[in-house]
Amino acid sequence: MSISIKTPDEIEKMRAAGRLAAEVLEMIEPHIKAGVTTAEIDQICHDYIVARNAYPAPLNYHGFPKSVCTSLNHVVCHGIPNEKPLKDGDIMNLDVTVKLDGYHGDTSKMFVVGKPSILAERLIRVTQESLYQAIKMVRPGIRTGDFAAVIQKHAEGHGYSIVREYCGHGIGAVFHEEPQILHYGTPGTGDVLEAGMCFTIEPMVNAGKRHTKLMKDGWTVLTKDRSLSAQWEHTLLVTETGVEVLTLRNDEDLPRVIEHAAAS
Ligand code: MF3
Ligand code: CO
Ligand code: CO
Repeated sequence: MSISIKTPDEIEKMRAAGRLAAEVLEMIEPHIKAGVTTAEIDQICHDYIVARNAYPAPLNYHGFPKSVCTSLNHVVCHGIPNEKPLKDGDIMNLDVTVKLDGYHGDTSKMFVVGKPSILAERLIRVTQESLYQAIKMVRPGIRTGDFAAVIQKHAEGHGYSIVREYCGHGIGAVFHEEPQILHYGTPGTGDVLEAGMCFTIEPMVNAGKRHTKLMKDGWTVLTKDRSLSAQWEHTLLVTETGVEVLTLRNDEDLPRVIEHAAAS
């Protein structure tokens, strides 16, 4: 097996899917407040996606029962929306994946309900910084370990830890395809990037130790030490000169297209 290179026609479809996934996260923002349940958030996202002739890819994915993942506080990822209302001080990762016209867009962001603790705010910020630093390195010729090491260094430099059991992934007509994108590692290792590849970077950063525990529901991943966890995710296209952020939102201070000078 090898890493797929998207054709110009496929890239257009990846752009449309990425745009829709980002739009869901923009649309839901005013709904995230104390008293709202994650099941209600799931329903709003589901309705928005299907109304645009797309499908929420998590729904029935290996039996996942809902349309989005909602991961609160010490939940690392794959939280299942439920009837419990959000409360002041909660932090929540909302992870949206849409399949539109046969192609996937996958993205997540952190929301805070009311006022977060200083610790939560800092964890959320450092996690997003680690994603942004990695995105800014993406271009043909670099290796996945090059940016993975930067993510790890940034998080660990702040006293946090990187979850190792879950990783980013190639994406296209298939939700999870090659390559695996680790968020820790060594420069000069891993797959070499080429123009036309699409993959996600989605670091999960814990305030405490890196170890995780799977709940009996078979999905919800917790920090073993019950410390807070944060995650941000974008779907990316490797271009001839750099990277295009396919799931960029209008609340972000990041260019959609990053071009690097040619290597000499
Ligand atoms: N969106 C997740 C990812 O970033 C995968 C969720 S799969 C589910 O890869 F089944 F848990 F929804
Ligand atoms: Co993903
Ligand atoms: Co995702």
